[in-house]
Amino acid sequence: MDKTLAVIGAGTMGSGIAHVSALHGYRVLMIDAQEGAVHRARQAISKRLTREVDKGSMTSLDADAVMERLVEADWPDASQAFMAIEAVLEIVDVKKEVFQRLDSLLPDGAILATNTSSLSITEIATITKRPAYVLGMHFFNPAPVMKLIEIVRGEETGDDAVQQAQAYARSIGKETVVVEKDTPGFVVNRVLMPLFIEAMRIYEEGIASKDDIDKAVKLGLNHPMGPLTLADLTGLDVDLHVMDYMYDEFHDDRFAAPLVLRRLVRAGRLGRKTGKGFYDYD
Ligand code: 3HC
Repeated sequence: MDKTLAVIGAGTMGSGIAHVSALHGYRVLMIDAQEGAVHRARQAISKRLTREVDKGSMTSLDADAVMERLVEADWPDASQAFMAIEAVLEIVDVKKEVFQRLDSLLPDGAILATNTSSLSITEIATITKRPAYVLGMHFFNPAPVMKLIEIVRGEETGDDAVQQAQAYARSIGKETVVVEKDTPGFVVNRVLMPLFIEAMRIYEEGIASKDDIDKAVKLGLNHPMGPLTLADLTGLDVDLHVMDYMYDEFHDDRFAAPLVLRRLVRAGRLGRKTGKGFYDYD
């Protein structure tokens, strides 16, 4: 298999996808429109690798090799890639622009994947001349750790693309599920958003403190994190965006964002990435 992969977007998800791919031997072309974004992402990955070296779970030679495989790249370099994974802003027009560009650069038969957490794969694929090779690959945060990738079929996604995406996922140590129908929120966010919403409503109604809501779900359901902590980790702005999108699509109150979430986002408390969300972080 050709081992060069392009990852577009060097935010939390893009850098996590680049990290885990480089760890498993892929040369990753990291592309981001924002000046300095790839540099910052590489620095953050390097810090994590240093921690692994300090813990003794990786040699410094291996860490250096991973960093060498993470290449800051420009758009034309994407022509070397067998697959591109896009993790840019969750705005359909921005994603379409990226896909149009990738379509003109990547070889025929190369896969164009989007890490969208809810948007329509079918709609994104319409801008390309290869809808059979466009699909969703939804990673979970933190991408280097979380085992699952949801593989999402658009209306025209072909079996060959799904199989290639599954092979790539296996090669980086992930499990996959195939989402057969392109529907908002796929499987995981369809389940997760109502959980977030209910936890936030319980908090709004003063039924329990935020610590106790999280503790209840952690210890009562054996989740690794409580839902309010997890909502901070995924990003409150991202959560709100996903809920609003699902609400608009389904017209269903199950996905109606609680006011407390909207208030926090308006106040710039976006969760871990800002240091403030439901909780304060150092
Ligand atoms: N990058 C790389 N590695 C990371 C990491 C990151 N950002 N964060 C944690 N890790 C690694 C640590 O290095 C550690 O590795 P080790 O076992 O080899 O020492 C391991 O993960 C465990 O980390 P910690 O010891 O720091 O902490 P925890 O044991 O509490 O685990 C957690 C942290 C993995 C985040 C765990 O709490 C967890 O699984 N939480 C739930 C996360 C989750 O549900 N994510 C899905 C969100 S939904 C989503 O992303 C969809 C979107 O569309 C909204």
